Amino acid sequence: MDLFEYQARDVFEKHAVPVLAGAVATTPQEARQAAETIGAKSGGVTVVKAQVKTGGRGKAGGVKVAKSADEAEQYAQDILGMDIKGHTVHKVMIAQGAKIAEEYYFSILLDRTNRAILAMCSKEGGVDIETLAEERPEALARVAVDPNVGIDDAKAREIVEEAGFDAGTGEKVAPVLKTLWTVYSEEDATLVEVNPLVMTEDGDVLALDGKVTLDANADFRQPDHADFEDEASTDPLEAKAKKLGLNYVKLDGNVGIIGNGAGLVMSTLDVVAYAGEEHTGGTAKPANFLDIGGGASAEVMANGLDVILGDEQVKAVFVNVFGGITACDAVANGIKGALETLGDQATKPLVVRLDGNNVEAGRQILADLDHPLVSIEETMDGAAKKAAELAAK
Ligand SMILES: Nc1ncnc2c1ncn2[C@@H]1O[C@H](COP(=O)(O)OP(=O)(O)OP(=O)(O)O)[C@@H](O)[C@H]1O
Ligand SMILES: [Mg+2]
Repeated sequence: MDLFEYQARDVFEKHAVPVLAGAVATTPQEARQAAETIGAKSGGVTVVKAQVKTGGRGKAGGVKVAKSADEAEQYAQDILGMDIKGHTVHKVMIAQGAKIAEEYYFSILLDRTNRAILAMCSKEGGVDIETLAEERPEALARVAVDPNVGIDDAKAREIVEEAGFDAGTGEKVAPVLKTLWTVYSEEDATLVEVNPLVMTEDGDVLALDGKVTLDANADFRQPDHADFEDEASTDPLEAKAKKLGLNYVKLDGNVGIIGNGAGLVMSTLDVVAYAGEEHTGGTAKPANFLDIGGGASAEVMANGLDVILGDEQVKAVFVNVFGGITACDAVANGIKGALETLGDQATKPLVVRLDGNNVEAGRQILADLDHPLVSIEETMDGAAKKAAELAAK
């Protein structure tokens, strides 16, 4: 589970990572009140920050420095409801303003490829760390961490040296890295990232942003983590899908994807991404991942379509089903039923590719339906191309 920044901030505080005061607001009025209290500690200056579980908030206009409570209220008004990479902002954090002298980067992550834990650190943190990692990888130190030892004094020193900090700065940064290790290990995280970790004009090291991913496999020994689950701000479609027992993940693109079985859905994502590049110059991309499961019934098919058609970003839907336990005719009846239920609300083209058990009967049902929105394709590539072209129109 990914945490919101404000949750990460709370977890940091619990483990003595130096952070600034912060409070969550869901309305501009709450933001003003929070800014009055919090700003009192920093000359009236606060930072209004969109709380969404995606990166690049600053660049999207979701992070604003406010010089007064009035301004904080105005920024909260602007930011609440904003869409950042397909995530709607339901909450903002009002953070105490820091006087930043320098911005650094630090992260600890589970390095699955090397079956180890990796610490990454740079003197040049801030919003453009991805560019830095690509263009000047040497500026980003990578240090392996032994999970049985963790980041102790020696390891912290090694990391700051590798990152090229001068001795004085390194001495101040190193203890903070140790506290972040405590977060990583005691909370059973798979990612702890701080960007930026800053040096203030007063010479204090602070974590000004936090990204934490918790390992759901450890939930049994982390009962407190259930509190982080925040249903109100999960995507309403994701919540709906979860209730219906569907495996649904929202993505950024415009081609809705329904398939049966995770393997088929994953390859469908690939084929659609490829077709989008090849035939639409990258305009068409997968909008979601929706697996209706191996033994999916007609009703489940209808539920799946209902979820996908509810996504405004979706311009076309690709239904890719390999009939097994659930035969293709059942799936076709599911599509038919869903279209009947939705009636005029169904306005998006569906490209259907069926194969496997009872494929002929399935195709016949759809052919007889003769619905203006439904087209049938025989191959996965053909269907992906068609769906991509429809979405890009
Ligand atoms: N409390 C603060 N006081 C002063 N400046 C801040 C504060 N918080 C953030 N900033 C400034 O805003 C920039 C962006 O903030 P932040 O890192 O939280 O968002 P982001 O990096 O754009 O979002 P994301 O991490 O989701 O990509 C920081 O690099 C820092 O310069
Ligand atoms: Mg950041």
